[in-house]
Amino acid sequence: MDLDKPDATVLTLRPFAASDMRLLHDWLCRPHIAQWWGAAPSYAEVEDDFLPLSSPESSIKGYIAMLGGRAIGFGQSYVVIGSGEGWWEDEDDPGARGIDQFLANAEELNKGFGTALVRALVEHLFEDPSVTKIQTDPAPDNDRAIRCYEKAGFVAYSEVVTPDGAAVLMLRRRATPDQPR
Ligand SMILES: CC(C)(COP(=O)(O)OP(=O)(O)OC[C@H]1O[C@@H](n2cnc3c(N)ncnc32)[C@H](O)[C@@H]1OP(=O)(O)O)[C@@H](O)C(=O)NCCC(=O)NCCS
Repeated sequence: MDLDKPDATVLTLRPFAASDMRLLHDWLCRPHIAQWWGAAPSYAEVEDDFLPLSSPESSIKGYIAMLGGRAIGFGQSYVVIGSGEGWWEDEDDPGARGIDQFLANAEELNKGFGTALVRALVEHLFEDPSVTKIQTDPAPDNDRAIRCYEKAGFVAYSEVVTPDGAAVLMLRRRATPDQPR
């Protein structure tokens, strides 16, 4: 086995960098992503929204999902409390984190990569012992995403109205000896 060559069957995460901005803009303009992430944005809008994610100080972090040496998707995680702008105003747990994600290529949907991406994000976030739970908030009619998150161990908790519209709040709590999940 060539140890220098990434394993093409294992999904890994690398930090999102400012140099990924063109790639991210291209992805966000793809119809299968714009359908759920909002109308295709301009490059300037993407820069405004996502440049902070490349900073280590930001409470929102970006990730590129890699399959072997190939970039196949994007994820972001955020500290829920204090999100601002009308988001998650009832949250009082400083250990709560949220995630959002997509796969870059329409022909790679429904093959299990999304579940692998979500599991990788969960594993990464729970490496921080202060993280208590992780949430995600698909649209109520995004059945594929909801099923994917269930497979990754999330449970639908409630229907909520966010600044982006109706959503299903799904939660995954940290496993404890009493409650393995
Ligand atoms: C959401 C997303 C990350 C999921 O990744 P994925 O690789 O497609 O999902 P997976 O293959 O891991 O799992 C999808 C599951 O949903 C099922 N599914 C697909 N379409 C479905 C539908 N219309 N209704 C119900 N289930 C559906 C699949 O059969 C599969 O379940 P199974 O393995 O039990 O058969 C990916 O589809 C994506 O990027 N979509 C576009 C952007 C988006 O919706 N992002 C999420 C915003 S919250």
